[in-house]
Amino acid sequence: MALERTLSIIKPDAVAKNVIGEIYTRFEKAGLKIVAAKMKQLTREEAEGFYAVHRERPFFGALVEFMISGPVMIQALEGDDAIARNRELMGATNPKDAAPGTIRADFADSIDANAVHGSDGPETAKNEIAYFFTEAELASR
Ligand code: PPS
Repeated sequence: MALERTLSIIKPDAVAKNVIGEIYTRFEKAGLKIVAAKMKQLTREEAEGFYAVHRERPFFGALVEFMISGPVMIQALEGDDAIARNRELMGATNPKDAAPGTIRADFADSIDANAVHGSDGPETAKNEIAYFFTEAELASR
């Protein structure tokens, strides 16, 4: 098992539902440590830049509007196989397909408002963490 870091975002729908603590508890129970965290109201430019890979997708405009509709909670998680472990905790992108007991099954309402984001691979994780955190903001735990 490799010690990894991954970027997690608790999206505006889950922040509005006041379940940041419940989601953090799931990370901690799964052995993922929070090594950096910030609550932030994303600007349109930040959201567009973060999701630039999806720029040509039909849902891009709606995704950006949703991500700037309220504050998000952004964290870097560290642990063994953190990238895959976080994605297991999250469940499928569409909450209708998410396994019972996953974050999206329990807290997400739709594919548009699906509670959480998690990096999908090592390169993405590195870039996404650097998008929101400086090296100095990442704790060594
Ligand atoms: S896909 O369809 O497999 O490419 O989806 P994925 O790579 O998991 O990420 C797509 C991100 O866009 C968000 N989003 C949607 N995806 C698909 N369809 C619709 N209608 C849609 N609306 C929003 C989805 O939640 C993914 O966001 P992140 O933050 O990466 O999980």
